[in-house]
Amino acid sequence: MAHRTFRDLVSEYDLLAPLERASTIPANWYRDRRVAQAEASCVFGASWQCVARADQIAEPGQFVSTEISGEPILVVRGADCHLRGFFNVCRHHAAAVATAPCGSASVFKCPYHGWTYGLDGTLRGAPDFSAVQDFDPASYGLAPVLAEQWQQFVFVNLDLGAPTLDSYVGDFAFRAASLGLTELRFVERREYELKCNWKVFVDNYLDGGYHVPYVHKALNSVLDYRQYTVETAGRACLQSSPVDSASAVDESLGRTRRGAAYYFWFYPNFMLNWYEGVLDTNLVLPAGIDRTRVIFDFYFGPEFDEEAARNSIAVSEHIQDEDVAICEAVQRGLGSRAYSTGRLSVRREAGEHLFHRLLANDLRRAAELLPAQALSPE
Ligand code: FES
Ligand SMILES: [Fe+2]
Repeated sequence: MAHRTFRDLVSEYDLLAPLERASTIPANWYRDRRVAQAEASCVFGASWQCVARADQIAEPGQFVSTEISGEPILVVRGADCHLRGFFNVCRHHAAAVATAPCGSASVFKCPYHGWTYGLDGTLRGAPDFSAVQDFDPASYGLAPVLAEQWQQFVFVNLDLGAPTLDSYVGDFAFRAASLGLTELRFVERREYELKCNWKVFVDNYLDGGYHVPYVHKALNSVLDYRQYTVETAGRACLQSSPVDSASAVDESLGRTRRGAAYYFWFYPNFMLNWYEGVLDTNLVLPAGIDRTRVIFDFYFGPEFDEEAARNSIAVSEHIQDEDVAICEAVQRGLGSRAYSTGRLSVRREAGEHLFHRLLANDLRRAAELLPAQALSPE
């Protein structure tokens, strides 16, 4: 079979179709290596990515090191209390200057040949470099990335020309702030690996509760499916529903899912799931074309003691197990010759439509920006 070009692949999706007429993104976008490569640079490498909790980088000198799309990244609170982000790549011969995943430092000393950087990224010392000509230490600081904090989350963006984090969080900033997120304490992190493309997990999250009565029978007993709402704005989506704890099919569900449900999604891969006194965040990371890592961080209000928190995490884990099974089934179906694209429920799937348009937009940019040889089939 002759390979279509990446540009052809990207133009298969109609960006202008309204929800009533829209199709899903094509099945091959969940399976094509070129799409994954383009996403690495033009989606994950050009959007706001949550990399830490603010409490990990609260004091001057505290830092977190991580990776975004294979790029080593370092975020640090400066002596001036300013939050800064850098590529964690030494300007001498490219070793990582911070090797611990988190910690506290007064300077960063590269473990390879001892170059030393200040917390503001400037090069402070380069041993045995006095005889080197045309070398200006001022131009050899760590390369910066954008870093910002919103609520208790620290985000970075590798694209220095990117729109502000505010424009991502947008209209939902106030709604999220009114839930008192920062009063909740971090309790635990859990990670899951799914055998599906990362977009399958995001699609599943954004289907407006469509799958809840079928996939999550227990959760469905407390959500009001008919009053479930979906709002979209800019690069975010908010799904919400009243919660009726009294009709819960099991006790620990009724005790841990109260008040209302608010599910926030921020393009491309960060979610907040809130009930009264309960918050978990989901960070969705590609781990291969058909593998996804999802990181859950669980937070609780003061009314949740250790046992209540444990019960709530068990409820979330049960729901996650149900989502894992359905996402893996979808990935298998996306590989079938019988499937190319699907349609979207106008009542339910506006969030998914927004996701697909934002993604298609970024992939079109990738088709223009990235050299053709970087996006040729293997
Ligand atoms: S690579 Fe960092 S000092 Fe040589
Ligand atoms: Fe689900």
